[in-house]
Amino acid sequence: MLVSATEMLKKAKAGHYAVGQFNINNLEWTKSILLTAQELNSPVILGVSEGAGKYMGGYHAVVGMVNGLLQDLNITVPVALHLDHGSFEGCYKCIEAGFSSIMFDGSHYAIDENVAKTTELVKAAHDKGLSIEAEVGSIGGEEDGVVGMGECADPNECKAIADLGIDFLAAGIGNIHGKYPENWKGLSFETLDAVQQKTGDMPLVLHGGTGIPADMIKKAISLGVAKINVNTECQLAFAAATRKYVEEGKDLQGKGFDPRKLLAPGAEAIKATVKDKMELFGSVGQA
Ligand code: 13P
Repeated sequence: MLVSATEMLKKAKAGHYAVGQFNINNLEWTKSILLTAQELNSPVILGVSEGAGKYMGGYHAVVGMVNGLLQDLNITVPVALHLDHGSFEGCYKCIEAGFSSIMFDGSHYAIDENVAKTTELVKAAHDKGLSIEAEVGSIGGEEDGVVGMGECADPNECKAIADLGIDFLAAGIGNIHGKYPENWKGLSFETLDAVQQKTGDMPLVLHGGTGIPADMIKKAISLGVAKINVNTECQLAFAAATRKYVEEGKDLQGKGFDPRKLLAPGAEAIKATVKDKMELFGSVGQA
């Protein structure tokens, strides 16, 4: 059964480790992530972007697939199904469809509007037992070929949003989605420290988990990060393994063209990536 992410993240913050959010795009990814979490006895959060939700057929299809896998694969570790960077409307759709957690990304609104919309969604989510993440300070990334540097959140704005009753907070600390550019200055631990001091026990979320050096990940966890999002690294691992399989010509030999065989190396590559991250984040054995 899906659970909200509230308890697992409170436990992670108190225990000084982080739970991984791994974004899903299809059945193979979802299966790989769930099986790895079960094998390592780790809690896990499945992230679904609005684009990935649409790709998989819609939010009800995602909920049906994930619930079916939990049952058929006998997954007993805590699993949350979380909308990643949701719009205001997207959040309502996921609450209705049966997600167990949502993220409202109001970081592009003026703070007053972010506050008003987050307040409304906190009530809607909690009424149905879902957890809710909010974001302050936009997290950069590549758009139209230009890599935007991540902003650093204002700790006072973080406190204002945290006080609305959200369950965990994504604060921009110079992190960005996707690959980091050569001239990236690294995470701002000064900002993270200031945010944690203002927000106390609130579990903090680090987006853009791909390509952050291990020592920075560990330091971020020591300063209150309890959830780390990873997407691009799974995509890169999946693509590289699939490309290798095709380049070796295996898909054209024997029954190698069978999609179950074609997608198997990518699925294994995702398992390896998820295992690495769970070990680094310290969530192994914490379920
Ligand atoms: P990466 O794609 O950089 O791993 O970031 C994932 C993320 O933060 C999803 O919200």
